[in-house]
Amino acid sequence: MRRRKIGLIGAGNIGGELANICMQKQLGDIVLFDIQPKENFAKGKALDLEQACTQSGSDASIIGTSNWADVAGADVLIITAGIPRKPGQSRDDLVGTNLPIIQDVADNAKKHCPDAFTIVISNPLDAMVYEFMRRTGAPKAKVAGMAGVLDSARFSLFLAREAKASVKDVRTMVLGGHGDDMVPLLGYCTVNGIAVGELIAKDKLDAIVARTRTGGGEIVGLMGTSAYYAPAASAVAMAEAYLLDQKRVLPVAAYLEGEYGYKDLYMGVPAVIGGGGIEKIIQLPLTDGEKEMLKKSADSVQKVVDIVKAKA
Ligand code: APR
Repeated sequence: MRRRKIGLIGAGNIGGELANICMQKQLGDIVLFDIQPKENFAKGKALDLEQACTQSGSDASIIGTSNWADVAGADVLIITAGIPRKPGQSRDDLVGTNLPIIQDVADNAKKHCPDAFTIVISNPLDAMVYEFMRRTGAPKAKVAGMAGVLDSARFSLFLAREAKASVKDVRTMVLGGHGDDMVPLLGYCTVNGIAVGELIAKDKLDAIVARTRTGGGEIVGLMGTSAYYAPAASAVAMAEAYLLDQKRVLPVAAYLEGEYGYKDLYMGVPAVIGGGGIEKIIQLPLTDGEKEMLKKSADSVQKVVDIVKAKA
């Protein structure tokens, strides 16, 4: 039996951390890909990570490359190719630069890795994952965007700290685009089954929701570039759910064909991730307020998708 193969497209900050976690978890052999001018950088990062294996005892292999032939046949692709945000930029500001990059990646992925389960991280997320699926023609079950797992992770952390609870006991769910108007579903957010509203006062909850919405921007403001540890950990949770057929219920950007009232759009929804990829989208009843927030979020996603469609 061969080890599974994981192609990481983009060997920058998130790509490196993705490789690190996949190695530690021994999820498969890793190919760390970047463009030709960054080939030695990718090779160097791969070598550094491989040497770290002697301490962790991982037998998985890792190579750095700028040759798509090395990625061929990957079981999972995780795409971070593109430029990250700088202070003052919104995710949507990246569309002009990252669109041709995702198109290049999609063309190569289609040629070399037609059967991979693909997780897109590049921003603006919902539009980039839409373009990846449109351009490759891959089945919708095999193309997902990573945003909701990260937004939920941020939300869970802030709730755990406020409730003085363990992060292990906090469960959260968010819907909508990966933007400042994502929709936290408070009715489904619990500390080991106890609704968060029982434990945290409304004004504190409102402040946590606001901080979660701008959680990415908070880090860009501090570091001068995008977050990478939590995005990588979140994408690996999705990859692991697929590779180990875990049937996890995770908020992911999935292609909608009428679910929640939206069509021909990628947006964050709760979904079952297992060996079939996105196996099922779970439709939850929403309050009127949540429906309104979701509409606002969908409208923002649609605006960026329209820009992508016009340029494609
Ligand atoms: N193919 C492969 N890799 C590419 C391509 C391409 N066509 N174009 C650019 N890259 C590489 C860059 O050379 C760089 O090494 O993508 C890498 C991105 O790494 P970083 O600049 O460190 O960015 P990172 O923080 O990893 O974020 C990547 O994820 O969260 C999003 O907004 C973020 O869009 C950004 C992406």
